[in-house]
Amino acid sequence: MFQTLDRLSPDAILGLMAQFRADPAAQKVDLGVGVYRDLAGNTPVLECVRRAERRVLEAQTTKSYVAAAGREEFNRAVEALVLGDAHPAVRERRARTAQAPGGCGALRLGAELIRAAAPATTVHVSDPTWGNHTPLLGSSGLKLERYPYYDAPSHELRFAAMLERLDRAAPGDVVLVHACCHNPTGADLSMDQWQALTGLLARRRLTPFLDLAYQGFGADLIEDVAGVRLVTSTLPESLVAVSFSKNLGLYRERVGAIITVSESETRADAVQSHVLQIARSIYSMPPDHGAAIAACILADAALKDAWIGELAAMRGRIQEMRALLARRLRAVTRDGSFDFIERQRGMFSLLGVSSAVVDALRTRHHIYMLSDSRMNLAGITPENAAYVAQAVAAER
Ligand SMILES: Cc1ncc(COP(=O)(O)O)c(C=O)c1O
Repeated sequence: MFQTLDRLSPDAILGLMAQFRADPAAQKVDLGVGVYRDLAGNTPVLECVRRAERRVLEAQTTKSYVAAAGREEFNRAVEALVLGDAHPAVRERRARTAQAPGGCGALRLGAELIRAAAPATTVHVSDPTWGNHTPLLGSSGLKLERYPYYDAPSHELRFAAMLERLDRAAPGDVVLVHACCHNPTGADLSMDQWQALTGLLARRRLTPFLDLAYQGFGADLIEDVAGVRLVTSTLPESLVAVSFSKNLGLYRERVGAIITVSESETRADAVQSHVLQIARSIYSMPPDHGAAIAACILADAALKDAWIGELAAMRGRIQEMRALLARRLRAVTRDGSFDFIERQRGMFSLLGVSSAVVDALRTRHHIYMLSDSRMNLAGITPENAAYVAQAVAAER
């Protein structure tokens, strides 16, 4: 049987990580893999997570199964964090939340749910989008199309073109939107643009699927979900895929959730029954440890405050590194062509150079980024910013 299977080419990001590790150069810079890094280049365990983890372990009396929906207290807390207590769908009991194995698990559950409800649905994703959206959504058998989102040469959103394209989508189609800190561009919708998009989704009867993987990395925990709250409280139906990998630094614990909003309480129960059946058929139940930690933090005022502080520090560091790199680039190029880096949000921006330049940066300067020139700004430090700027100026 296995003779039919040929070896696949390695995942681009994993391949890049291996290349970076094997590079013997003393001065090398990893702007590739999408994890947060502190000044020392580490991806730390947050202090609030350490404290919560100790409590979770001390209180734990069993390792027995939890449920296909995971922890109820986690699901309630996620709903409150993302939608807020005043949300009409929460008040009217039209929202349902199921714990999922990370944001990826949530995206896949959402895709399978869409496929179960309306197999012919097309999902419209931004051009460009995070590389894993295509396999995660496409593997469920849904058709994917791209809507214009970002113009690399001008570093601006293509918002008019985005609306014009979505205006031609078939009623019932799904539109995947990054809730904040767009990956890979760092370019987000303004509140006016969220308003206009919401109007179009309602008018064209399109279903929003919001990918929320960086809540707290853009502005703060509230502002980063303003678009999510607007869309989910205006439209009768929506989906939100939530990840705590980045904002709680719980990457390997696989902590996420899928929130669905339905037209009525009865319909919401029906939808949730399908979500749980899909979960049962793929992995049965989500892992508990990370969700127990997240629930502990979200339920305890002191731990939550500590988290908000640590989150602000991570966000602040990325913003400082954005400003620093833009400043260094301005100094060596003597123009403002990289000022956009400072304006954008979240961990990623597209440097906006060709793949040949990306190759030259890697082979000549040992600076690693994805072939589309996506940089993880958390890989920048006060020590390497000038080096990176000089290399970019030399190669662009
Ligand atoms: C846009 C986006 N969505 C979802 C995820 C899901 O992450 P995870 O499955 O690790 O929670 C990521 C992680 O990189 C992401 O960048």
